[in-house]
Amino acid sequence: MPRYAYVNGRYLPHADAAVHIEDRGFQFADGVYEVIAIVDGTFTDEEGHITRLGRSLAELRIPWPVKPGTLRILMRELAAKNGVRNGLLYVQVTRGVAPRDFRFPADPAPTLVMTCRRTKWQPRAALEKGVAVVTLPDIRWLRRDIKSVALLAQVLGKQAASERGAFEGWMVDPDGTVTEGTSSNAWIVTGDGVLVTRPASNLILNGITRQTLLRLAAAMQMRVEERTFTVEEAYRAREAFVSSASAFVIPVVRIDGRPVGEGVPGPLGRRLREAYLADAGVADPVLGGGR
Ligand code: PDD
Repeated sequence: MPRYAYVNGRYLPHADAAVHIEDRGFQFADGVYEVIAIVDGTFTDEEGHITRLGRSLAELRIPWPVKPGTLRILMRELAAKNGVRNGLLYVQVTRGVAPRDFRFPADPAPTLVMTCRRTKWQPRAALEKGVAVVTLPDIRWLRRDIKSVALLAQVLGKQAASERGAFEGWMVDPDGTVTEGTSSNAWIVTGDGVLVTRPASNLILNGITRQTLLRLAAAMQMRVEERTFTVEEAYRAREAFVSSASAFVIPVVRIDGRPVGEGVPGPLGRRLREAYLADAGVADPVLGGGR
């Protein structure tokens, strides 16, 4: 089946799809994006992703390229054209094409690009055995709540983590607190069983998966604290995991080479992953099961 991308109102063969060299996304990283998982044809947390896209656009004063309701229709069309029922849909909106000038163009025509691809999800072993993370300095700007395409710090961080044999890098602010992963939110479970994740602020991306997990954890009567935690506290955690649209929940069993708890995936992360996918009404695309 040929692959198609959506570019400003047209479905183009993926290999030929392009935007202009003076697109402000290319020139200034002046744009925002969303990544949405499709599991068994269901867009998980679609509402949350569309809402956050609107927020990111508003924060940067970029107009919606199409109405949110139209976007949802286009997303489905693109998935269907690509025959994707299990995969990831990527949406990017930039401030559009204009002669290079730091100031906003007077009459912006935002660029809307979407791609959709099948994915293998995470390997089964990542869920059964857990993954390693390493800590890195958080060298990003102070508006990390905007899902901006300016991802250079995360690119460098993920590459550094990968070169150190880790699945993810946990970024750390100068005060020693963990902010988040390079492309995921960070969670720990304390020695006495409290689920801890950093509160939403300008210093992290408020993950949509994170928000749903907090709602589910409360419904399951887990003890939850939205607060900062240090690297030292993470080393002493009983359990740790990461969350994101593409990972759902993945257990972390080593931080900077030190085992987390017994060094095996813990029960809270597993329950939350199950609850997340059950809430979306789908079976786990890696582990199977579900309803
Ligand atoms: N990344 N923090 C950062 C820095 C992220 O880039 C992401 C998502 C998250 C998790 O957010 P959500 O649960 O809404 O996916 C947290 C996406 C998946 C990516 O860039 O591929």
